[in-house]
Amino acid sequence: MYQLLIRPLFFLFDPEKIHHFTFALIKTACKIPGISFIFRSLYQVTDKRLERKVFGLTFKNPVGLAAGFDKNAVLYNELANFGFGFIEIGTVTPKAQAGNPKKRLFRLIEDNGIINRMGFNNLGVDAAIKQLKKNKGNVLIGGNIGKNTDTLPDNVIEDYKIAFTELHPYVNYFVVNVSCPNVGTFAKLQDKDYLLELLNSLQEINHNFQNKNPFY
Ligand SMILES: Cc1cc2nc3c(=O)[nH]c(=O)nc-3n(C[C@H](O)[C@H](O)[C@H](O)COP(=O)(O)O)c2cc1C
Repeated sequence: MYQLLIRPLFFLFDPEKIHHFTFALIKTACKIPGISFIFRSLYQVTDKRLERKVFGLTFKNPVGLAAGFDKNAVLYNELANFGFGFIEIGTVTPKAQAGNPKKRLFRLIEDNGIINRMGFNNLGVDAAIKQLKKNKGNVLIGGNIGKNTDTLPDNVIEDYKIAFTELHPYVNYFVVNVSCPNVGTFAKLQDKDYLLELLNSLQEINHNFQNKNPFY
C-alpha cells in the first residue's frame, strides 16, 4: 500500500511540506478513539530479548527515532505508539530559530536517500519544555541539544549549558550535537580541548541534579 500508493502520491509534493502533513495526520489520527490502540497492537513488540541496558537506562528495544523528525517535541506521545525503543527530540537550541532558507530538503529518489540542510530549525527550548510537560511516559526521551546559529563563538558553551539545564528534568538522556555540518562554526567544537571543556561544563551541571542524565 505504502510503496504502491502512498509513496508515489507523497513524492508529488515538496518533502518538507509532506513532513508537516504526515505530522498533522498522525496527530489527528491518534485523537480518534481506538486508533492509538490499533497502532500499538500493530507495531509494539514486547520481548525481553530486545531490551538493552545502556548508560543505566533500560531501552525496550534498540530501534529509536533519530533527532530531526520531532524537532519540537510535539509528536513523541503519538510516535510512541509505533514501537520505538526511544525517541530523540530536537535538535533544540536555547532560542527559536528559522533554520536555513528553503528549499533545504531534497529527495534522492534513485539512491533512496535524502539531503537535508535544515539548519536546526526549531521553536527553542521553552517551547520544547511546554510539550515535554505532556509526556505520558510511554517511551524514553532523548534531548538532542545544539547552539543557535547566531551565537558568537565565545558564547557557544553557554548555549549548550542553557539547553542542558532547562531540558534536564524532562528527558532521560542527552545528545550533545556538535557535528551538524550546516549551521556554521561547528568545526571549533570538535577540537579536542574545546569539546572537553564543553562536556565537562555539562557534566558539572549534571552532577548538581539528583537524577543524573547520561549524554553522548
Ligand atoms: C530532515 C532531517 C532533519 C534532521 N535533523 C536533525 C537534527 O535536528 N539534529 C540531529 O542531530 N540530526 C538530525 N538529522 C539526522 C538524523 O537524526 C539521522 O542521524 C540521520 O537521518 C541518519 O539516520 P538514518 O540513517 O536512520 O536516517 C536530520 C535528518 C533529516 C533527514
